[in-house]
Amino acid sequence: MRKAIIAGNWKMNKTPAQAAELIEGLIPLCKGANCDVVICPPFVDLCKAVKMTDGTNIHVGAQNVHWAQSGAFTGEVSADMLTSIGVEYVIIGHSERRQYFGETDETVNLRAKAAIAAGLIPIICVGESLAQRESGETDALVTMQINKGLDGIAAADVKKLVIAYEPIWAIGTGKTATDEQANETIGVIRGAVEKLYGHDVSDAVRIQYGGSMKPSNVKGLMAQNEIDGGLIGGASLKAEDFAQLVNYDK
Ligand code: 13P
Repeated sequence: MRKAIIAGNWKMNKTPAQAAELIEGLIPLCKGANCDVVICPPFVDLCKAVKMTDGTNIHVGAQNVHWAQSGAFTGEVSADMLTSIGVEYVIIGHSERRQYFGETDETVNLRAKAAIAAGLIPIICVGESLAQRESGETDALVTMQINKGLDGIAAADVKKLVIAYEPIWAIGTGKTATDEQANETIGVIRGAVEKLYGHDVSDAVRIQYGGSMKPSNVKGLMAQNEIDGGLIGGASLKAEDFAQLVNYDK
């Protein structure tokens, strides 16, 4: 049985003071959650987030990581820098990074390998655009993203990582994939993992849905057999909403 994992991707929101306020609200509300709870604030909030959540059930992730250990890579942060302050997870290959910052399946793969080598748990994002869905390319695209994104990663590491299926057309649009659409494509992703690594690994890897997940639709999505959690943007910025998501089973 896979344990559910609900993660908040704060994107470029919240100053350290605002982050502290949100985390203060989240701690008591998330306390009894049965799933793994992760928040992914911007880099400048990470130290504070790790300190404030110490001893709670809330884990902290970053939103990006570079593949080199150090060097002349202006604007980037290394995996060791993240682990040195107590960060445990990292989102890799979010569609916004692919769309606006030139992220490719190759750089996703490099970042994922570096994260794993440093002991971080990557949350690797895949997903199609509206045009790709409408032209019937979804299954082939997510399969390719998985094949390239996981290239060279050992089975034992794949078992432990997290994949997020985020259809781009459902991100921040209020348009959610239907429960069945999300479940079906996540099934395709799990099938791609199975083809590469076998059933043992595909059965263990956790695959989240992301895209306008909110209190009103979380139960239906989480009731699907392939969906192991959520990667949440907008609704992760309000303590009450995010708490409802992590307590979806109550
Ligand atoms: P929204 O929940 O705001 O649609 O964002 C989803 C997302 O991109 C999470 O990574």
